[in-house]
Amino acid sequence: MNPQSMHNFLEIAVDAAREAGSILRTEFDRPKKISYKGEVDIVTESDKRSEALIVAKLRSHFPQHAIVAEEGSRGAAAGTKYCWHVDPLDGTTNFAHGYPCFAVSIGLLEDNEPVVGVVLNPVTGELFTAVRGEGAYLDHKPIHVSPIEKLATSLVSTGFPTHQRANNRNIHYYWEFTLRSHGVRRDGSAALDLCSVAAGRFDGFWEFGLNSWDTAAGMLIVREAGGAVTNLHGLPYHPGDPTILASNGLIHAEMQQVAAHIAERAAASTL
Ligand code: IPD
Ligand code: CA
Ligand code: CA
Repeated sequence: MNPQSMHNFLEIAVDAAREAGSILRTEFDRPKKISYKGEVDIVTESDKRSEALIVAKLRSHFPQHAIVAEEGSRGAAAGTKYCWHVDPLDGTTNFAHGYPCFAVSIGLLEDNEPVVGVVLNPVTGELFTAVRGEGAYLDHKPIHVSPIEKLATSLVSTGFPTHQRANNRNIHYYWEFTLRSHGVRRDGSAALDLCSVAAGRFDGFWEFGLNSWDTAAGMLIVREAGGAVTNLHGLPYHPGDPTILASNGLIHAEMQQVAAHIAERAAASTL
């Protein structure tokens, strides 16, 4: 696809994110109507309004493209060359509790590879963008991952899924990485966590059980900022894979080794 079209895709995605972000920003200050999708998996009217706006915009501009959006919207049949992965509100729990850390995340895959990524924080107004091969930007200024070389002097982040909480092994990783770094943040928006790696605020990020709409945009932004994104075993990551490890590249192998060590220890303890 020629760069002109990619820029057109980016422009429409940015417009959609800004319009959706303005809905979220307004509704953030109002009482929220919450429903439950699972035990603690909540959804608000704002998630749905944001999604409806983004999906309508993408459909009207790109009727041939597939769409996978968290609250259930779908576009043209899957199997088409282009597929948009949309999280209309990443960080719903934060949003519902009045904690100002949430995002709109819109990623475009071409033949299953990320080519356009847009993440907007509606509260700060920070807009992270990337087009494959053209670098990553925060508010139109280039961003780069951090130069930190050791996990011991790193600030990293993770998150915990809202489903099957009791079976989640991440608490062991959280404990171990906390002891081996300057600290582990748990901010509640995977899309913003990835952008923080891209901007050099965090040096690494890992999580289990994320969906394609959480990571499609952020993974491209990390890669285009010079970082590495794989699964926890160091293999190429595809949106929706069961694990993700993103970093500045320099501490990637070390994070992977720590993860392997924890997994081995957990396996041994169940014998
Ligand atoms: C959640 C956030 C959170 C992550 C969860 C996700 P949502 O997305 O990204 O940081 O830890 O696993 O489900 O539900 O707020 O869109
Ligand atoms: Ca999400
Ligand atoms: Ca969401």
